[in-house]
Amino acid sequence: MKSREKFGSRLGFILVSAGCAVGLGNVWKFPYMTGRYGGAAFIVIYLIFLILMGWPIMVCEFSVGRGSQKSCATSFKVLEPKGTKWHHYGWFGMAGNYLLMMFYTMVAGWMMYYCFRCAKGDFSSSSVDAQVIVNRFNEMLSSPGILTFWMILTVLLAFGVCSFGVQKGVERITKIMMTALLALIVVLAVHSVRLPGAIEGVKFYLIPDFQKMKEAGIGNVIFGAMSQAFFTLSLGIGAMAIFGSYLDKNRSLAGEAASIGILDTFVALMAGMIIIPACFSFGIEPDAGPSLIFITLPQIFNQMTGGRIWGTLFFLFLSFAALSTVIAVFENIISFAIDLFGISRSRAVLINIVLVSLLSMPAVLGFNVLSGIQPLGAGTGIMDLEDFLVSNNLLPLGSLVYLMFCTQKRGWGWENFIKEANAGNGKKFPLFVRGYMTYGIPALIVVIYLKGYWDMFAPQAAAANNPLLLAGWMCVAIAFLALIGWFAFGGKRKDS
Ligand code: ALA
Repeated sequence: MKSREKFGSRLGFILVSAGCAVGLGNVWKFPYMTGRYGGAAFIVIYLIFLILMGWPIMVCEFSVGRGSQKSCATSFKVLEPKGTKWHHYGWFGMAGNYLLMMFYTMVAGWMMYYCFRCAKGDFSSSSVDAQVIVNRFNEMLSSPGILTFWMILTVLLAFGVCSFGVQKGVERITKIMMTALLALIVVLAVHSVRLPGAIEGVKFYLIPDFQKMKEAGIGNVIFGAMSQAFFTLSLGIGAMAIFGSYLDKNRSLAGEAASIGILDTFVALMAGMIIIPACFSFGIEPDAGPSLIFITLPQIFNQMTGGRIWGTLFFLFLSFAALSTVIAVFENIISFAIDLFGISRSRAVLINIVLVSLLSMPAVLGFNVLSGIQPLGAGTGIMDLEDFLVSNNLLPLGSLVYLMFCTQKRGWGWENFIKEANAGNGKKFPLFVRGYMTYGIPALIVVIYLKGYWDMFAPQAAAANNPLLLAGWMCVAIAFLALIGWFAFGGKRKDS
């Protein structure tokens, strides 16, 4: 059998994994969540989740990947004790990767479209005012043609890179993109904090405002911070695990996961440092939510000296961040087909170009032709449902699966996990956290998960005066949890 391709260098592994982590979560979601949830107060909670949950779970994922030498499609099957049911999670992990891409390719397309329009000078002319900018964003969303074109371009570019293989495609291009991204960040952040009045934004960003956090609802903020920690590190759907499978045993995994987490956090913090001080400098509130970078920021670029160049560079930075994730997740998607069906890489690429393009259409049409479909309540769309399924369900619950798989006797077990995580030189995984990982994190995930559902749907049920609405959604949450319980505790372990 052909041996599995490996990364060419340690730096390649770190940058590709960081590329998978660094994405819309860092440059789009994180700044707008920070703006909404009380600046530094939210950041503190988010950082706690990253360290206390994100980092150990990332080590679990890399260990499962390296131990099995497979993607999440078949990794559980390879490592699980005979008779257990963990391998069924493989299907959910795969579904998670596809679901993530079903809206991600479209939003990555928005970034490239805005980069193109900024470069053309469409957001830097005296005839452009705030209303024109709002209209342009709405025109983009209401045009299936524009959205489809940029989505397909994203799909073709990213699968094109993957078609060259791990070293010659994914590793080579991601290294270039991540280096350019880090350089752009520094240039943009220095420019932003030097704008007149920007210092107020820096203060908002660095001094916690617990009052604002209370107004947003503590439950929402805590659940938001946990989901964001999982989203930003792409945890729970095996998206990271696969890079463990391309890694040799020279380095232990705790230190590598820490480097990746630090790089990811650096990019998120700097993205906020670029956006929030600029908002304060131009007297614009940073709490606009998802439209922050498409409506608020173009207004700023329009007023800024050299705004055409700064705007183009900013959206280029966002495009690189989004594309690095799309490439990494596509590498997973290709690997599923290879691991499951034994087909060639080029055939997997061709099939998935068609499949992912088609699967991305509901999100595209959800903003125009299918805008009447509002699955999560008034004002929501198909993309919100996809994001909800991935971010609020598959990522936390998948993280729970990886965690239990690595700590439970019925799974791969603590000894195997530690042996794999600590193989090689470098920082070793601390053994004293065993109890915390076995009981503490799973309990926290379950509580925050259920509370998140409650806080999301209780106000809707109250507004509609319909308690059944809340009861229905809580049943959905419990059903998902029961399924995870079945993967972990179902079947009868046969020790042969
Ligand atoms: N980790 C990816 C992001 O932050 C999904 O966008």
